[in-house]
Amino acid sequence: MISRRDFLKDAGLGIAFLAPMRALIGWAAAGGEIEEMGLVVRGKDRMVVRSFRFLDLEMPSEFVNAWITPVSHFYVRNHVFEPAPVNAREWRLTVQGEVEKNLTLSLSELAQMEVHSVTNTLECAGNGRAFQNPRVPGIQWQRGAVGTARFSGPRLREILERAGLKSTGKHVMFRGLDEAPGKVPPFIRSIPIEKAMDPATLVATHMNGAPLIDHHGFPARALVPGWVGAASVKWLTEIKVLENEFDGNFMKPGYRFPNRPVQPGEAVDPNETHPLTTLSVKSIIAGPGEGARLNLGPVRIYGAAWAGEANVDKVEISTDGGRSWTPTMLGNEQARYAWRLWSYDWKPKVGGEYAIRSRASDEQGHVQPEVAVWNPSGYLYNAIDQVKVYVAS
Ligand code: MTE
Repeated sequence: MISRRDFLKDAGLGIAFLAPMRALIGWAAAGGEIEEMGLVVRGKDRMVVRSFRFLDLEMPSEFVNAWITPVSHFYVRNHVFEPAPVNAREWRLTVQGEVEKNLTLSLSELAQMEVHSVTNTLECAGNGRAFQNPRVPGIQWQRGAVGTARFSGPRLREILERAGLKSTGKHVMFRGLDEAPGKVPPFIRSIPIEKAMDPATLVATHMNGAPLIDHHGFPARALVPGWVGAASVKWLTEIKVLENEFDGNFMKPGYRFPNRPVQPGEAVDPNETHPLTTLSVKSIIAGPGEGARLNLGPVRIYGAAWAGEANVDKVEISTDGGRSWTPTMLGNEQARYAWRLWSYDWKPKVGGEYAIRSRASDEQGHVQPEVAVWNPSGYLYNAIDQVKVYVAS
């Protein structure tokens, strides 16, 4: 048995070198001691560890204070083990299926194609799951399985055109290099051809101006703007054009939404569901944090709001638990698929307990609801956000 001290010593190397220690990390996770042990995750800074067996890191919401999220704070969501570090010179991307000619592209061939950049808010479909009532199984994300980055690389459309799409090609499947142990199914997903051909859909090689780091899919990932993060497959190695939607575990029953409203707690037949696509309209309060103790005086309330493929129209704030609402100031920085930062300068007149709420609306008329639509996997949680604070008198 390896001692706790030896574990700490090795953990200091960063988990990128810890592949043979997976079982040990599992043991540590079971003990719930990771944060206390100060484990280092290479390239990441002050993240909440939601899982170590397959690395899942949440951004503390206080970091939702910059339009572009630094890579060091960007959440990580993995369904299986990350692949061993990929050798960029040996890596190849194959394109096959319903195409005129199969392609095999190297990283330098991808780099020779025209580069496009898209500033995109990536959000895990399960973000906010921890707030679902009744509780649902899965990683208990709170607010921070979301971030905004500038992704760059060739358009998927240009790669598909180079291969020559057949008229029978209706869906595009992505396979990553990550490693599914035992009976865990591989993470393979597909998107409809219309979204694949959208000029904003990329095979991204860069994030915030630098090559992707391992945790975000080096050397290339799909980037499907405005859609749930699951569509943006990392460590891309194969693109296959299909006649039908891919039918593996992460397309069905995974990442689907009931066709009709269901009662909280009700089981749903997978045949009465549809795949998740765009994100929902949503705002979160980044500060002040839940339970903050504030002095009587001006308080800046701030956060971010996004709406998938739609633009955010407004974000309103309530400091009286939802009885009255006031518009907030939206930040100047904006892009089609990116969140808007917002802020509101609040001057509480008396001390006491306050429930601060935020509510976003998009340009298509969708408004963040009082209660999120319950579903068995807790996807697309987007209820009006709320934090309770205490103002000293
Ligand atoms: N791609 C692969 N190959 N394996 C995965 O587990 N997770 C998906 C998606 N792409 C995943 C993947 C999910 S569920 C999300 S939310 C995003 O990656 C998260 O991207 P990030 O880890 O770069 O933030």
